[in-house]
Amino acid sequence: MATALQSGVFPAVSHAVNAASTVSDDGMQKILLGVSGGIAAYKTPELVRRLVERGACVQVVMTAAAAAFVTPLSLQSVSGRPVRTALLAPEAEAGMDHIALARWADQVVLAPATAHLIARLAHGLADDLLTTLVLATSAPVTIAPAMNQQMWQHPATMANIAMLTERGCRLLGPASGEQACGEQGPGRMLEPAAIAAALLAPPPAAAGALAGVPVLLTAGPTREAIDAVRYVGNRSSGKMGYALAAALAGAGARVTLVSGPAQLPCPTGVQRVVVESAAEMHDAVMARVADCALFIAAAAVADYRPAQSLPGKLKKHADTLTIQLVRNPDILAEVAARPDKPFTVGFAAETEGLEAAARDKLGRKGLDMIAANEVGAAAGGFEADDNALLVLWPGGRRTLPMMPKPALATALTQLIAERYAASASG
Ligand code: CTP
Repeated sequence: MATALQSGVFPAVSHAVNAASTVSDDGMQKILLGVSGGIAAYKTPELVRRLVERGACVQVVMTAAAAAFVTPLSLQSVSGRPVRTALLAPEAEAGMDHIALARWADQVVLAPATAHLIARLAHGLADDLLTTLVLATSAPVTIAPAMNQQMWQHPATMANIAMLTERGCRLLGPASGEQACGEQGPGRMLEPAAIAAALLAPPPAAAGALAGVPVLLTAGPTREAIDAVRYVGNRSSGKMGYALAAALAGAGARVTLVSGPAQLPCPTGVQRVVVESAAEMHDAVMARVADCALFIAAAAVADYRPAQSLPGKLKKHADTLTIQLVRNPDILAEVAARPDKPFTVGFAAETEGLEAAARDKLGRKGLDMIAANEVGAAAGGFEADDNALLVLWPGGRRTLPMMPKPALATALTQLIAERYAASASG
């Protein structure tokens, strides 16, 4: 019998394996991929390939309905491991029983996750191998939903998703757009490359992509003193800026990080200058900007500070207290307006109209690039570990999908390096 590989259905598998062999998982990230019965299941061989490319070992488990959309043999061919389908299969259980399989996984990803699978997971059912494994594992679980937009927006599905995310499951997608059924709306499974990128960090940005380039970067929140003990602040954790500093250093840049108060260790190879207020951050940046070729403003700088800061502690007297705030200097705009301006990258956190607001900021502040993210949404943003970015530059744009901040920082560094090189050669 011809295997899927021999018949050329999946010709691009770099580690072409005999369908009967099993890939060793020594030291590799072990991913248990659960496939349920939706049309998007046809994309799972591609997803397996993307995960394998990034160095993962993938064990596929299919629901009975999934086999109507993609064959176990196809998935066995690309993963190099026999696909598991049945809970009570004596032969498979004799090899690695379902509890051992649940323990084996470093991560569980359900892609595509149909409305039915999501409902079964939300209610803790264990009526097949896949749902049993999800109950039996302590590994993080990621769900990539795929279904008709009406089904996705149904209150029952929304409630099930809310239950699962509250329990700690991570949600990837769904994306919006044209659906297999001809309708438009949210419910498309994220593309395999985006899912793989979100699960596994990409290879480090090409070492040397920014070799020797002096980069000045701001990160973290600022604190604007009201009195000796109180301040006006914001919820920035500094995670994105610090991850970016580490990724830039990994790409060979000489990084100086001007950081507001963040509870994070200084990344290896990065020179850090710690400041507290926007005024201090402004002075620290202006003292160093002439020596940098790239300036990245990732800090959440307070736009206003109290007009007066009391040297002692403010005592309570009246029932109300009015604090007058005055504008802080805009560090990013000031750097971008310099005659000897470095390649300048800003960030924008928006609650609505993301692209229009960010494009406006790009033009208004005279930036070379802006990385925008939505805040106030269910996932991503200030204190989260994951984030997604829409990156804009004059005449171009790229979307970096939801992924852990270190992976996102690496992807952003690659893009900054590309645009920086283009601007230097232009
Ligand atoms: N920024 C800065 N100095 C400031 C304020 C902001 O360098 N005083 C930088 C941030 O680091 C970020 C970008 O500017 O890169 C954010 O732009 P900003 O216009 O401040 O964003 P918002 O405060 O969200 O703007 P607005 O209130 O106008 O929406």
